[in-house]
Amino acid sequence: MYQEKTIITLLMIFLASLFICNGSYIVEPHHQANVERYYHVHDGRLIKTKHQHFGHITRTNRDTLFSSKSQGMVSVDDFGARADGRDDWEAFKKAWNEACSKGYVLVVPKNRIYRLKPITFSGPCQPNTAFMLYGTIEAWSQMSAYEEDRQHWIVFDSVSNFKVDGGGTFNGNGKKWWENSCKYSNNNLPCNDEPRPTAVTFYDCKNLKVKNLRFKDSQQMHVVFERCFNVFVSNLIVRAPEDSPNTDGIHVAETQNIDIINCDIGTGDDCISIVSGSKNVRAIDITCGPGHGISIGSLGADNSEAEVSNVVVNRAALTGTTNGVRIKTWQGGSGYARNIKFMNIKMQNVTNPVIIDQYYCDQTEPCQERNKAVQLSQVLYQNIRGTSASEIAIKFNCSRSVPCREIYLQDVILEPEGGGGTTATCENVRYVNRGKFYPQCSPQ
Ligand SMILES: *[C@@H]1O[C@H](CO)[C@@H](O)[C@H](O)[C@H]1NC(C)=O
Ligand SMILES: *[C@@H]1O[C@H](CO)[C@@H](O)[C@H](O)[C@H]1NC(C)=O
Repeated sequence: MYQEKTIITLLMIFLASLFICNGSYIVEPHHQANVERYYHVHDGRLIKTKHQHFGHITRTNRDTLFSSKSQGMVSVDDFGARADGRDDWEAFKKAWNEACSKGYVLVVPKNRIYRLKPITFSGPCQPNTAFMLYGTIEAWSQMSAYEEDRQHWIVFDSVSNFKVDGGGTFNGNGKKWWENSCKYSNNNLPCNDEPRPTAVTFYDCKNLKVKNLRFKDSQQMHVVFERCFNVFVSNLIVRAPEDSPNTDGIHVAETQNIDIINCDIGTGDDCISIVSGSKNVRAIDITCGPGHGISIGSLGADNSEAEVSNVVVNRAALTGTTNGVRIKTWQGGSGYARNIKFMNIKMQNVTNPVIIDQYYCDQTEPCQERNKAVQLSQVLYQNIRGTSASEIAIKFNCSRSVPCREIYLQDVILEPEGGGGTTATCENVRYVNRGKFYPQCSPQ
């Protein structure tokens, strides 16, 4: 009897210590008749990858999910989601309304695949509303479901103090859409270049965290932040085939104060693209490839005015991408892009490692040269090393009418991937710091 008690006590201490060490806890389910479920809280373990010249790339492996243990929780399953291949729109809407109005955590359970037609999760919500995606959400594949709005699949609209997290996957199921695009390589079918849906759009959101998620095969762009303010993005993995058209990884538009940390992106277009109205953008510890690299722009399309400032790209590794760090603007635009820093970047077999293209033209008809352009100034390239797949490793093709000003190169060394050498072309650049960089502009 005594021994039994001791064993039981020891067992309980052992079990309790397991919970404490792993940081797991049981969350009381709110408003649901189902049996209790465990939701694991992962420890904030750090995985460090050593990068030869660029210090440690730190990968936070999920952090504590909720600060308060008493936060209410609703599962989409409690509202009738079936994850059986049919559309679960209804259940997601109801679960969202409940979570949003009460500041609860909406849970999308693990090991289940939910299909959704286009859906908008609207705010304003009570603070600390969260969307925990543990399982997979897959886009409804019939295009007819998108007739009303061809540009969006999932939208979070006007939600503040909000978090999306959980380790789950948004799958845009985009193959059918790509095949209809005129840009798709082996395309014999009639094609159209109408807009295609962005998988997940955050529109007009403030104090937003988007973490620990996978995005896959989006119809067009994967994640868009538009008109948002104070955004923290980390540990996203984005994957789409190299030939999937316009499948940008993370797109930032008219957004201020955004940190994009520790993301691994390989798609058919830009890993990260930053366009007009964006200010105070930091991208740190980014792995990119395949894809078109990290881009500012395109800016100034259709004679528009662009404003981009205070952008830092620090610690990035690009492998086999068509561009490395790129600024692209159309002829005829106006406005500016300034105070931009590209630092500590490793290029491996990148076709245009360092490029400014002020003659960008992504349309079938040729673009006319104009006497207006977006002014580029104060651009720093520092500690950029690696190999170029093409001979021209540094290409500054600035506007003849509005030359680039204050372009700084420090410790930029780009060797050819194959044999031979590399060259730099520097057109209409008013000032290039001639610190240590190779290749040097030619002709001098
Ligand atoms: C480098 O890139 C080029 C063009 O993208 C490609 O053809 C070649 O196979 C790549 N080389 C290596 C070693 O990956
Ligand atoms: C710059 O762009 C113009 C227009 O596309 C092109 O004609 C010219 O060859 C480019 N210059 C370089 C150095 O690539």
